[in-house]
Amino acid sequence: LGTAGTAALLAAGTGTRFGAGTPATLAPVSRAGSAADVAVLLTAAPTTVDLGGREVATWGFGDRIPGPEIRVAAGGTVAAHLRNDLPQDTTVHWHGVRIDQGMDGAPGISQAPVPAAGGFDYRFVAPDPGTYFYHSHVGTQLDRALYGPLVVEDPAEPLSYDAEWTVVLDDWIDGTGTDPDAVLADLNAGGRPAQPLRSTLLGGPAGHIAYPHYLINGRTAQAPTVFEEAPGRRVRLRLINAGADTAFRVALGGHRLTVTHTDGFPVVPVRVDTLLIGMGERYDVLVTLDDGVFPLVAAAEGKDARAFAVVRTSTGNAPPASVDVPELDRRVLDLADLTADPSVDPGDGAAREVGLVLNKTGARGRAWIAAAETPDEKLPRVPVAAGERVRLSFTNRTRMWHPVHLHGHTFQVRRPEGGGPRKDTVVVLPGETVAVDVFTDNPGEWMLHCHNLYHSEQGMMTTLGYG
Ligand code: C2O
Ligand code: CU
Repeated sequence: LGTAGTAALLAAGTGTRFGAGTPATLAPVSRAGSAADVAVLLTAAPTTVDLGGREVATWGFGDRIPGPEIRVAAGGTVAAHLRNDLPQDTTVHWHGVRIDQGMDGAPGISQAPVPAAGGFDYRFVAPDPGTYFYHSHVGTQLDRALYGPLVVEDPAEPLSYDAEWTVVLDDWIDGTGTDPDAVLADLNAGGRPAQPLRSTLLGGPAGHIAYPHYLINGRTAQAPTVFEEAPGRRVRLRLINAGADTAFRVALGGHRLTVTHTDGFPVVPVRVDTLLIGMGERYDVLVTLDDGVFPLVAAAEGKDARAFAVVRTSTGNAPPASVDVPELDRRVLDLADLTADPSVDPGDGAAREVGLVLNKTGARGRAWIAAAETPDEKLPRVPVAAGERVRLSFTNRTRMWHPVHLHGHTFQVRRPEGGGPRKDTVVVLPGETVAVDVFTDNPGEWMLHCHNLYHSEQGMMTTLGYG
């Protein structure tokens, strides 16, 4: 995109979110809130969910997967009361939100875990519009049904579309057959992956758990979610990967998708056939719907399984869940294709660089995050100073891939030539190095971890701290 293109984008009004398109850091997080407040009660409890003609027991926020969608206008306050009716401690983490430290839901770091029969009042301003989600941050609870979407609306939404759908992807253990805690215990005991499969794209095991269910909005392929709209309508899809161990390759049969946001933040739009979404990542796409009935497929990368939904704009039979979707085999969106929208692109700037290594022992296969100088020692904390722009560079020395997530911030992925997307979760492929620029403008202790739940629970976690 040349200067003329950038100027055109700014003139078109896409560059107005953080002050007239001036390359800058994000606006400081306001703690004040506004009139547009939202109150919600989240009860974490054993429950029964309907997967579509099939009831299964799990732990969730209510009787549906995902939990209730929370919507708030940017600048508004979310007041969420968590009631814990689980037989374990729990917390709620607001994934991706530049939140006040005390509301981050990081057990033992930002708050004491909420005990069984206890409660906690979360109250925070949602500063940035975009697609987020919330989930339990204790043990393997995310792999049950303890998650839901969080949409922060832009009161001055620059995109135009006719409708929007939130599309939540999940690999899911219902807890009746296999229990997520048992899976973790197995892995901790050095157990072999149940179904080792090679991903062609990710260059290493993309995930190792063969799940009993792959879900789109809580429905299996046998009784899929059906999205209905009129033909010709332009729809915004808010794609969220809430899975614990699965990246999904997503395509809508017969359509191309225009990617507009990565992890809530706008990018220069790119048209793609298919995109790969790691755990904890979100992508927003626009699509203009044809006339017909189409498969929306989320293929579990490196696993022989898929999640499936139906997009319907006319009568006619739905395609079978096994339908061939050629878009899935076309070129997949790459990080290098993405450029932050000028309004959220801080531009180049010399940042201090901190080298971090994603590493792993030979024997038990546990992975961790280390300082580049001491790759064989797990690093408990990455020391940074307040008010700096620091470049974290992650080198993956394992043969697995890791979606690395930082709490409480959004960072900019640094492409060698500058101008990468803003994100809070970035996939680091085996053997590769990915650098991200973080502004330390939200004091606290922040978790930095792999969003493969089983990696983080085995210790692939550190914190970024400054005060
Ligand atoms: Cu969505 Cu620390 O996680
Ligand atoms: Cu990992």
